[in-house]
Amino acid sequence: MRSQYCGELDSSFIDQTVTISGWVHRRRDHGGVIFLDVRDREGIMQVVFDPDAEASFAIADRVRSEYVVEITGLVRARPEGTVNANMRTGEVEMLGREIAVLNKAATPPFPLDEYSGVGEDVRLKYRYMDLRRPEMQQKLILRSRITSSIRRALEDQGFIDIETPILNRATPEGARDYLVPSRTHPGSFFSLPQSPQLFKQLLMVSGFDRYYQIAKCFRDEDLRADRQPEFTQIDIETSFMDEEGIMAITETMIRKLFKEVLDVEFDTFPRMPFSEAMERFGSDKPDLRIPLELVTVSDLMETVEFKVFSGPAKDSQGRVAALKVPGGNSLTRKQIDDYTKYVGVYGAKGLAYIKVNDMSDLEEGLQSPIVKFLPVDVRKALLERLSAENGDLIFFGADKAKIVNDALGALRCKIGADMNLYTKEWAPMWVVDFPMFEENGDVRLTALHHPFTMPSCSIEELQANPAAALSKAYDMVLNGVELGGGSIRIHQEEMQNAVFDVLKIDKEEQEEKFGFLLSALRYGAPPHGGLAFGLDRLVMLMTGSESIREVIAFPKTQTAACVMTHAPGQVEPEQLKELHIRVRKPQSES
Ligand code: AMO
Ligand code: AMP
Repeated sequence: MRSQYCGELDSSFIDQTVTISGWVHRRRDHGGVIFLDVRDREGIMQVVFDPDAEASFAIADRVRSEYVVEITGLVRARPEGTVNANMRTGEVEMLGREIAVLNKAATPPFPLDEYSGVGEDVRLKYRYMDLRRPEMQQKLILRSRITSSIRRALEDQGFIDIETPILNRATPEGARDYLVPSRTHPGSFFSLPQSPQLFKQLLMVSGFDRYYQIAKCFRDEDLRADRQPEFTQIDIETSFMDEEGIMAITETMIRKLFKEVLDVEFDTFPRMPFSEAMERFGSDKPDLRIPLELVTVSDLMETVEFKVFSGPAKDSQGRVAALKVPGGNSLTRKQIDDYTKYVGVYGAKGLAYIKVNDMSDLEEGLQSPIVKFLPVDVRKALLERLSAENGDLIFFGADKAKIVNDALGALRCKIGADMNLYTKEWAPMWVVDFPMFEENGDVRLTALHHPFTMPSCSIEELQANPAAALSKAYDMVLNGVELGGGSIRIHQEEMQNAVFDVLKIDKEEQEEKFGFLLSALRYGAPPHGGLAFGLDRLVMLMTGSESIREVIAFPKTQTAACVMTHAPGQVEPEQLKELHIRVRKPQSES
């Protein structure tokens, strides 16, 4: 069969006879000479067929796009003026001598050579064709290089790859579980792992000390560009290592990966406490490539007559924040209206703004629907606090702090992208000092990370003021995407019980859900901690893709289905019966 991949052939092969195998990317007929571009995973080779070689010419004349062919021929330099500097094989071509059609192909559902604007549904339905495109091949090849670089880095550090079960009891990562009915235990269900969290902790109790796994995880949650129901984690756990050690080892791994695969060098990652990230960027995953920041102005607004501002300014849970956009007063009314709609998605009830036309005139120089409500001294203090200049536009958010942070945090990223304000290509960082718990408008607190995360304080301090407790958790963020997160875990039963108490998980529920973990903590659990990276997100960023679907061979759609295999699908009544399941909704309606 083949002697070389198409993409390997360059001028060093001139005058050699070679055999290539692949797909017909494009066929052109140039005045009696036939050109075939033949494609395999490594690249594209141009093959020329002369009418002199009658038999092969006749075959080449009949092939069509995506036929599978094997061609033997002579490598030669391309005639002057036809060299293609953009292609690795662009200096050479093959003079085709023999051609065999290994298989025909139906007309492709979309052209692969002049591919553009094909809907994602069509691409996913014919994913095997979509994946033939060089761009997609490159992405999956890079994904494989990334995992092998990571495996090497971890194994060099003594990490051991151990598999954990897929058929489980629920893991408490906070999303909905995918359930699998048990045939042998009527009425009982396995759940697919949201992460290997509990098992990796148990492996620490067993003494494996450094564990890793490239693990499939399953979460039935609302999907977005960076979320899939089934995704892959680079899952890591260590014993006898504190958060500094874990952050250092994983940061080194990511740094090595970028150097090896993209030849990009990072400085030491900056660290930012969660509270600072929320205050300055309205987000726990700030995109530090964008030089815009939120500034709290609640204190200036407490006494203004504009209730929209003074209400949240006086509310201990509220926030009034400003986002200055340098040069932003060129934004049109329509653009501002669009941004107002955009923040509405995050719950903001409006988007007040001031255009700073002339700083020296606080009466006429400020253009805004709300400036009339602000006394001149407030206007002055505001512009000073924001270091405003002529030409700036200032947006405002006033509401519960969470809404303001979500809305202005998202607006900051949107404007950064729309106005292309990026100051650098890559901005990795750590977010640290997360709160242990969050309030969900409920009497119950919930774990911000998961309930096995170690608080930074003592049991007594935790019990006295749980809402103020911080945790030994850390997230790695790259370009505004949460790449990975982890924590030091609780390794002593007393602390674990104290946390369960705060979460109002009673003894019965503790025993029922995590009895095995609590029991393991009694048998000499070492101090331990770890972290998990989202592999798909990492590959998405490293390949410059818009969505993780672009870097997963066979992803699900936004509605968590596969348009190619039609999964999820209905099953035979017999199979349901065996599983002791009766479907309430008639199958025809589901
Ligand atoms: P966490 O829930 O933060 O932590 O998940 C770790 C990382 O996994 C990625 N990720 C996802 N990627 C694609 N689609 C999804 N639906 C999805 N959900 C999460 C993110 C995230 O940072 N057991 C803990 C880790 C630990 O404490 O060690 C955990 O799963 O990049
Ligand atoms: P209104 O009083 O509703 O006419 O709003 C006056 C201005 O304030 C408009 O530009 C609104 O977009 C803006 N606005 C209203 N509610 C809020 C809010 N919660 N935060 C920020 N701006 C708001």
